[in-house]
Amino acid sequence: MAGAVLAVIAPFANLVGYFYRKEEEVSKRQKLANLKDLSPGSYIFFSYPQTGDPKIDNDPFRQYVLIMTHDGHLRVYSRVCVHLWCLPSYIPSRGALICPCHGSIYRDTDGVAVDGPAAYQQYPTNALPMGVIEVDQNGDIWMVGVEGRLGYGREWQRVKPDDLVRRVT
Ligand code: FES
Repeated sequence: MAGAVLAVIAPFANLVGYFYRKEEEVSKRQKLANLKDLSPGSYIFFSYPQTGDPKIDNDPFRQYVLIMTHDGHLRVYSRVCVHLWCLPSYIPSRGALICPCHGSIYRDTDGVAVDGPAAYQQYPTNALPMGVIEVDQNGDIWMVGVEGRLGYGREWQRVKPDDLVRRVT
């Protein structure tokens, strides 16, 4: 009996873990790169918040991508597809993140799904959660938090992607 109950709830362990994350786990200040490491159309995959333990850092719910879009804007997106939680890849030539499971396509400019099953979900459940980043006077890029619910979308209030990129002087 206990085994059956465990089998039913095990798939939701990640989800429960997410909702009960401690504040420091979604607001840690973590250096991602320097502006000179990026050029338009380039990107870097990383995990956040990083612990140094690969078993934890490889958790799909910690996977993000830092992108410099073709027009030079910085964006950080969670890589957990808001359809059924596969990990989209970034395809610079398409200016989009594309999910390998059912083909959802997310614009790199704002992380909103424009095609595939995720595009049929209502805002904000059709949009990838975004990283909040700071760029300091040395050009270092820091992630300082997350806007949205990983695997589910954004918070209910609409945010402009550029509002999540802060210049620190
Ligand atoms: S899990 Fe990404 S499109 Fe279905």
